[in-house]
Amino acid sequence: MCGIVGYVGKFDCVDFLVQGLRRLEYRGYDSSGIVTVNKSGGMHVAKAAGRIDKLVAKLAQTEMSGKLGVGHTRWATHGPATDVNSHPHVGGDGLLAVVHNGVIENFRPLKQRLEAAGYCFRSATDTEVVAHLIASYWELELAAQPDLTPKSMAAQGYEPLVRAVRASLQKLHGTYGLAVVFRDYPDVIIAAKLGSPLVVGVGDGEHFLASDPSPLVGGTDKIVYLDDHEIAVITADSLRVLHRDLGEKHADVQTLATNTIEVDMAGYEHFMLKEIFEQPDTLRNTMRGRLKPDEATAHFGGLNLTAKELRSVRRIVLTGCGTSWHAGLVGEYLIEELARIPVEVEYASELRYRNPPLDDGTLVFAITQSGETADTLAAMREMKRMGHMTLAISNVVGSSIAKEAHGGIYLHAGPEIGVASTKAFTSQCAALTMLALYLGRMRHLSPVQGAQIIEQLQALPDKVNAALECDAVVRRIAEKYAHCRTFLYLGRQFNFPAALEGALKLKEISYIHAEGYPAAEMKHGPIALVDSETPSVFIVPQGAVFDKVISNMEEIKARGGPVIAITCSEGAKAIGALADDIIEIPTVADFLQPIITAIPTQLLAYYIALERGCDVDKPRNLAKSVTVE
Ligand code: M6R
Repeated sequence: MCGIVGYVGKFDCVDFLVQGLRRLEYRGYDSSGIVTVNKSGGMHVAKAAGRIDKLVAKLAQTEMSGKLGVGHTRWATHGPATDVNSHPHVGGDGLLAVVHNGVIENFRPLKQRLEAAGYCFRSATDTEVVAHLIASYWELELAAQPDLTPKSMAAQGYEPLVRAVRASLQKLHGTYGLAVVFRDYPDVIIAAKLGSPLVVGVGDGEHFLASDPSPLVGGTDKIVYLDDHEIAVITADSLRVLHRDLGEKHADVQTLATNTIEVDMAGYEHFMLKEIFEQPDTLRNTMRGRLKPDEATAHFGGLNLTAKELRSVRRIVLTGCGTSWHAGLVGEYLIEELARIPVEVEYASELRYRNPPLDDGTLVFAITQSGETADTLAAMREMKRMGHMTLAISNVVGSSIAKEAHGGIYLHAGPEIGVASTKAFTSQCAALTMLALYLGRMRHLSPVQGAQIIEQLQALPDKVNAALECDAVVRRIAEKYAHCRTFLYLGRQFNFPAALEGALKLKEISYIHAEGYPAAEMKHGPIALVDSETPSVFIVPQGAVFDKVISNMEEIKARGGPVIAITCSEGAKAIGALADDIIEIPTVADFLQPIITAIPTQLLAYYIALERGCDVDKPRNLAKSVTVE
């Protein structure tokens, strides 16, 4: 989704801003822009719809420079992706410029009022309202002190600017991460956060601003995570943080762990491919220090719940969106089977507006890679408001959801840049398996059963490595079917969520219509889609329902549909010529199958997208972190 980058310091900022915007590309965007302010030449804005190269081409026609500037990648919410709708937006006839992430829900009435007051709107965005609103308050300040120079402004601690921004923020309903620069004050950026992440990087005689830490790579590892309702007043040499309504706050400078800023492709053609191949390591990292063979259980440092509290849990709600919701479905099978606790899996976007009757023994887990998904955050807040313990299973350390939860489990999968989630999914499944083991061992699971699960988990990274050997086979299959317009993904039990996830991966990055179904359910409707150009991907490794799924396969074959089977070597023998194509994967216990079967479905989506010439890491219309409702 939208991204923000900013700089104020001793160096010219244009190259840094462009590089920072490129680092934010993975979030998804459709246009970009930057503004610089300098001591001699005032404020300059450049913006362009399309990829960042379009902006770079525009910049080449200008002589933009400055030691202060901010940049933005926009993901359209209000108004199409055009040059005019791109950020920054200028307020008050060129007095200031604003970049904004989030959504201003009351922008219409504010716009009407500002238009009536004579402000001229050029774009269809909600952000332009923020720019003119701040300008309107700033003009009142200017009327009271018309001779404010940069020097006298600095001497006042930029208080007049802060007052104008604060007064505006108090009028906004919605979410924002925003940065404001002022034409006549080339040494200060004012930033503010409510519901959309912002971090400030602290350097030596320079400060950075960004919507996530990735643009700070190489600049600094000292970082301040702004909290909701905070305003930051940022100059080259100073950082002041204040609460919008309560005044001064201490800026808590943290050191960024190096693994959170390793964002290169390590020789792979795409981040997605790199992240697929990282999975043996990311799974090791998720499990590191959490398996306790001596007690035949798992252990988590951050749940912040006592054993007594965990024993009294009578129901678990797992909530999330997209791939994280699919991981929740895997978690439902896992926790019900291993811990015998009833589980419900809820789309966060639905849960936030429902009023489910949940009793006191309910524990809620918000599952999220980014930790910033607006619907998941809102659902979690609603569950908290209802008095339930809410825990996060998240990848991004210090993210909003991780911070607001009572406790949780970090995935430690490292930054996931590809928009299509891969390694986060398998780490979520691994974390949920350990959670199910932990809760199960507090209940009916015996030490012997616990020890067996631990052994299987310990062997998992090597099994994933072995599964990755299907790469070449999957690539050939992808070439064969890349022209098809619809795919079915079918699986049962633990592999039903795996089928949903496989279909989502294909849809997201290749733009091919794909549907995931429980294999037997296919007879109740989707079978009507089957023809010689509609492949069915059967996820049927082995296990109790193997023979049943083979019957479903027969039904597809009888109707002339191509069958691709993902199965273990035993399964391959049994399936034989029934499948047109077979992808072999290693054998694992049924509860670990979604992790192993994810590998070929991720690769299949990747190679089909590649074959079709799609932009794998930045698929159209999608954002990595969906911070709007
Ligand atoms: O960051 P989150 O896990 O909360 O994101 C949830 C979904 O937006 C995300 O999983 C999305 O569906 C991915 N693009 C899937 O590949």
